[in-house]
Amino acid sequence: MHTKIIKATDEQGIEAASSQAAEVIRRGGLAALPTETVYGLGANALDGEAVAGIFKAKGRPQDNPLIVHVSGMEMAERLLCDIPPCAYKLSEKFWPGPLTMIMRKNDIIPSEVSAGLDTIGVRMPNSRVFLKTIEKAGAPIAAPSANTSGRPSPTTAQHVYDDLNGKIELIVDGGSCGVGIESTVVSLIGDVPVILRPGAVTPDDIASVTGSAEVSKSVLEEADAASAPPSPGMKYKHYSPSADVVLVSGSDEGFAKLASALDENTAVVCFGEDAGRIKHKCFVLGDKYDHAAQAAHLFDILREIDKRGFNKAYIRLPDMDGIGLALYNRLIRAAAFNVIDCDKINK
Ligand code: TXA
Ligand code: MG
Repeated sequence: MHTKIIKATDEQGIEAASSQAAEVIRRGGLAALPTETVYGLGANALDGEAVAGIFKAKGRPQDNPLIVHVSGMEMAERLLCDIPPCAYKLSEKFWPGPLTMIMRKNDIIPSEVSAGLDTIGVRMPNSRVFLKTIEKAGAPIAAPSANTSGRPSPTTAQHVYDDLNGKIELIVDGGSCGVGIESTVVSLIGDVPVILRPGAVTPDDIASVTGSAEVSKSVLEEADAASAPPSPGMKYKHYSPSADVVLVSGSDEGFAKLASALDENTAVVCFGEDAGRIKHKCFVLGDKYDHAAQAAHLFDILREIDKRGFNKAYIRLPDMDGIGLALYNRLIRAAAFNVIDCDKINK
């Protein structure tokens, strides 16, 4: 299959690209679309066969459900039952934006989307070309991240092309994604909202609207093979480059010393403040306390490490405040939970 790329970086481009993407999606095809978080691989969420194509193109495990992208709560209402009042409050505050809410689905949503569960995640993305595509297609759009399953999520059209060229009809190129990591996933099924995947909307942001919010144990810990994780995606190896990733905690001095001694087959990923003191070429994630910049660069750096053929990567661990929790959640999985303390190693 030939994969066409169409630019949507100005007004005219957005009109043309959304028309083409809507046309592809209406007739059951797949189109990759930019969002503010990462690129999504979209299909008509009401068409089970089209949705099955997403799983095939990504090589995605059949039991991992998809997020349904909507134009607002009005569209979401048509897909859901038992919507709790806090869903309206959360959508008012954070939509369009990087927040996915899990609620009970109704029968209009085919089981391919929910992977057999009786719930779905819904999100209104903050992307004009995506929202226009939903409007022109006249349907909600199911879209996981537009990467090959297990690879780092795509934050540019080139990343999508690298993974899915020949497997999908269309890639809409809207430039780099501003947020750079996937949306916060919050379950509204129980009495208290539970964060299943942290993102740019933080636990405190959610609690400021709902009064309280819990963070699922699986956000920070390795999925226990014996029990079903609250979010099926948690149990899969994720965000991983082929290189072995080691996360490094500890002091600025300790990291500089450790990193300076590494060989040239090992990549170093550090904060902006570190770069000058390390005698090794570095990828800069962002400044130490600038979690937004770190999030925006993370997946591109993980992909670049592979492209340049490094077989190992030492990555400095950001702190867990605010969006830092989301970075930690992605990095700890990329590193298969391998964390070392540079101050202990250097002794
Ligand atoms: O920012 C994002 O959320 C991007 C853009 C494209 O919107 N999408 C995305 O989708 O990251 P995906 O499929 O790569 O990740 C969705 C995550 C998975 O971990 C999945 O298991 C979880 O959300 N999920 C989806 N539906 C669920 C449900 N009904 N119950 C629990 N977890 C669910
Ligand atoms: Mg994904």
